[in-house]
Parts: sequence; C-alpha cells; structure tokens
Amino acid sequence: MKLSFIGNGAMAKAMIKGAIANYKIEVIGRDLEKLNILNEELNGKLEVKKLEEKMDVEGKVLILCVKPQALKSVATFFKGRAKALISVLAGTNLSSLKEQIKADFTIRAMPNLAASYKASMTTLTGDKGFKEESMLILQSIGKTLWLESEKELDIAAGVNGCGPAFLAIVAEALADGAVKEGVKREDAYVLVKGLFEGFAPLLENSTHPALIKDGVMSPGGVTAAGVGALEEFRVRNAFIKAIQYAHEKKIK
Ligand SMILES: NC(=O)c1ccc[n+]([C@@H]2O[C@H](COP(=O)([O-])OP(=O)(O)OC[C@H]3O[C@@H](n4cnc5c(N)ncnc54)[C@H](OP(=O)(O)O)[C@@H]3O)[C@@H](O)[C@H]2O)c1
Repeated sequence: MKLSFIGNGAMAKAMIKGAIANYKIEVIGRDLEKLNILNEELNGKLEVKKLEEKMDVEGKVLILCVKPQALKSVATFFKGRAKALISVLAGTNLSSLKEQIKADFTIRAMPNLAASYKASMTTLTGDKGFKEESMLILQSIGKTLWLESEKELDIAAGVNGCGPAFLAIVAEALADGAVKEGVKREDAYVLVKGLFEGFAPLLENSTHPALIKDGVMSPGGVTAAGVGALEEFRVRNAFIKAIQYAHEKKIK
C-alpha cells in the first residue's frame, strides 16, 4: 500500500520516519525545496510532489498533516475520490473532513509529540471499514487505541495529546522539589528522567495505578507523608480539572 502524506511538518515527518519501513510513501507539500530536503534526509526513498491544482487523489490513502486552518484551501486542490483519508488535524471533526475531501473512508487520528521516538499514544475513530488498516499505519509511530466516538476522542486528547505537557509539569515540579531541598539541578533532572523511564514498565505491568502507590507506601513512612501532601494540596483534583478544561476548550 502507498501512503500519500499531505504536509511535511513536524507530525508528518515523525509519521513518515516511522512508516517508511513498511510503506511506499509520497509526500505532497507546498514547498518543493523543503520536500527535497526531507527526501535527502531519508536517502531518496520518498516520492515528493508539489501541491498543485486538480491533483488527482483517486484511490489514494491520504494522511492529512497540515494545520487545521489550512484544510479548506488544501481541499480545493484535490480532484477524485480517495480510498481513505486519515486526518491528524486537532479539533477538526469527521463531518467537516467529509464535506471537504471525498474519500470512501474517513478517519480521525490523534497522535502525540512522542511520535518522533515511535512512542506516540495515538487514538483513532471514524469509518470502521478502514479501522484495521488505519491502526496498522499509526502503529508505525507507537501504540494505538480505537475509540467508538468523536466525543471520546476529543476527551481522550486531554490525556494523550496534552499529556506530555502535563507530565512535563510534574517532572519539573519534582526536580524543583529536590533542588529546594538541596540537590543539584543537573542531578535533579537525571533523577526525574530515570524515574519516568522506570515508571513506564511499572505502569504497563500493573493492573491498577493505585497498586504501585500501595506497594511503595508503608505505614507512617516517608511516601505516606508525601502522599498526604499531594492530597492536602488537591493534586488529584487538579489533574481531573485539567482534563475537563482541556475538553471544554476543545468543544467551544
Ligand atoms: N505536533 C503535535 O504534537 C501534534 C499532535 C497531534 C496532532 N497534531 C496535528 O498535526 C497537524 C500538523 O501539525 P504539525 O505540528 O506537524 O505542524 P507544522 O510542523 O507547522 O506543519 C504544518 C504543515 O502544514 C503545511 N501547511 C500549512 N498551511 C498550509 C496551506 N495553507 N497549504 C498547504 N500546506 C500548508 C506546512 O507547510 P510548510 O512546511 O510549507 O509551511 C507544514 O508542512 C496539525 O493539524 C495538528 O493539529 C500535531
């Protein structure tokens, strides 16, 4: 199967680098010079094309990776009916995509920043006729989760899309706490990086996050004192509100 990427920005590059091992890839963009530089980076393995009027997309699998506000203008360049359209555009719903780009199947995918390291947690939803294929394509940049509705995808985006920013605040705050108590800044970041790296397999292999906490929190101990502070300052509630506010912002 050949994939036709529309756009050559950060997300397109991450996906192309992941998918190139399994798919033939063409990249369609508005700047041929940028496309040629990308092709050189990938040892000339891509087909690159300048976005032109009446571009025939009949039967193609399009991966739309432009900014949401560019959808309308990009759509005017296409003629024909694509086999499938996979859009990574944040906040652009299926009906708007279907209205503007004709395809047998339309899918929304929400990857995250970790795509550059093939570690994205990507959510998908849309026409079930292309469910398996679209999940396989997105697995080239990490893990995938199919959700039954756009509503769920938009809620989940607060976790998998915004999550790297939320966890970055946790990482920074833990390091600041260590520095405040007297650990050197550079050592504090080494500590936090190691903590996150080790936490991933712990979470992966645990049936419930609370079991990890219970495993560390001995009666009257130091972890219990820290957990007490997190509850006192309502950290749990702050995260629940962060997901709520992110969702409310998205649906405005
Ligand atoms: N980055 C993330 O973590 C992330 C996560 C989830 C979803 N997304 C979604 O991914 C999409 C792309 O984001 P990105 O981070 O890759 O952005 P980006 O690096 O700015 O890339 C945007 C791409 O769109 C092209 N473009 C913009 N306006 C255009 C127009 N009018 N006509 C044709 N091409 C146009 C740009 O072309 P030029 O290179 O010529 O300027 C560029 O190739 C967005 O819709 C975003 O919502 C991103």
